[in-house]
Amino acid sequence: MKHSYPDQVLIVDVSPRDGLQNESKTVPTAIKQALIEDLMAAGIKKLEATSFVSPKWVPQMGDNSQLLDALKPTRNDDVCYSVLVPNMRGFENAIVHRPDEIVIFGSASETFSQKNINCSIDESIERFAPVAAAAKAQGIKVRGVISCTVGCPYEGEIDPSQVAYVTERLVEIGAEQIGIADTIGVGTPIKVQRAIQAALEHVDISAISGHFHDTYGQALSNTLAALQLGVREFDTSVAGLGGCPYAKGATGNVATEDVVYMLHGMGIRTGIDLDKLVSAGERISAFLERPNGSNVTRALISQRQS
Ligand code: HMG
Ligand code: MG
Repeated sequence: MKHSYPDQVLIVDVSPRDGLQNESKTVPTAIKQALIEDLMAAGIKKLEATSFVSPKWVPQMGDNSQLLDALKPTRNDDVCYSVLVPNMRGFENAIVHRPDEIVIFGSASETFSQKNINCSIDESIERFAPVAAAAKAQGIKVRGVISCTVGCPYEGEIDPSQVAYVTERLVEIGAEQIGIADTIGVGTPIKVQRAIQAALEHVDISAISGHFHDTYGQALSNTLAALQLGVREFDTSVAGLGGCPYAKGATGNVATEDVVYMLHGMGIRTGIDLDKLVSAGERISAFLERPNGSNVTRALISQRQS
């Protein structure tokens, strides 16, 4: 089959949020700020800065307001700052900082919805509806991300009809963009394409973004499969950081460096400077005392050393 690829793809680096939310060691606000500034210096134009969730549930994101205050002086109008918001309480705390986009996050799995946000899928839509309306009234973009679109840590395989259902409900309440997430990285290319095709029953391909964790090493293949369907926006995480506290065993997101390398190799522009990105990933990995999760970084570093 012949595929036509775009000239350009938008990378959303989610490392400050997804990448750090599951770290047990407290990451100081200044380190998060440095990470975000490094990402911007590398040419990242959209990022998930933090989440306005309950600090009892996710302590690592408890400095959300302090972080956005610290970022104020270097805030760049060309960069879209996105934040996760689960309810009106989170929205009220977030709006003070004028994020460019808010992310409401639901699930295609009932059990994951309960474990992650303590309510059913339908209840979550009821909580998100006023958040989406309030954001739109203030001219803020609304993205709806759907977790567990191919597999769930509690329920196993997820039927694409569940993805279609949640997409429809999120679009109904005003989500302009829909993120298709493989939370635990179990997806393979055809399954991911089926999940995207289910969402396409209710939303245009231009409004879909991909969010693939790499637990089983499938995330880059899944990114390519989504690209072949026409997806043009991907959540990725520098150094492959990431994980959800309520999805045990799930590892990081696909590494931003690996996706950028693949796209550039295919002649697709991202506007990102790979060398600077590698340095950003090395800096945060050194702080976290973790091996860098990007294959491309490991290859480039060993090439530099030899
Ligand atoms: P709940 O306990 O049902 O909430 O939690 P509640 O409304 O009953 O409130 C309980 C307490 O929390 C109250 O405080 C509220 O004020 C407070 P208390 O009276 O006990 O002192 N509270 C809040 N505080 C700060 N900010 C808020 C907030 N809301 C309530 N927004 C809730 C419901 C949704 C809050 C909770 O379950 C929660 O915070 N969950 C967050 C889970 C999370 O962040 N998961 C990770 C992000 S999702 C993800 O990683 C997946 C993704 O990457 C895609 C993928 O890979 O699949 C996006
Ligand atoms: Mg995630």
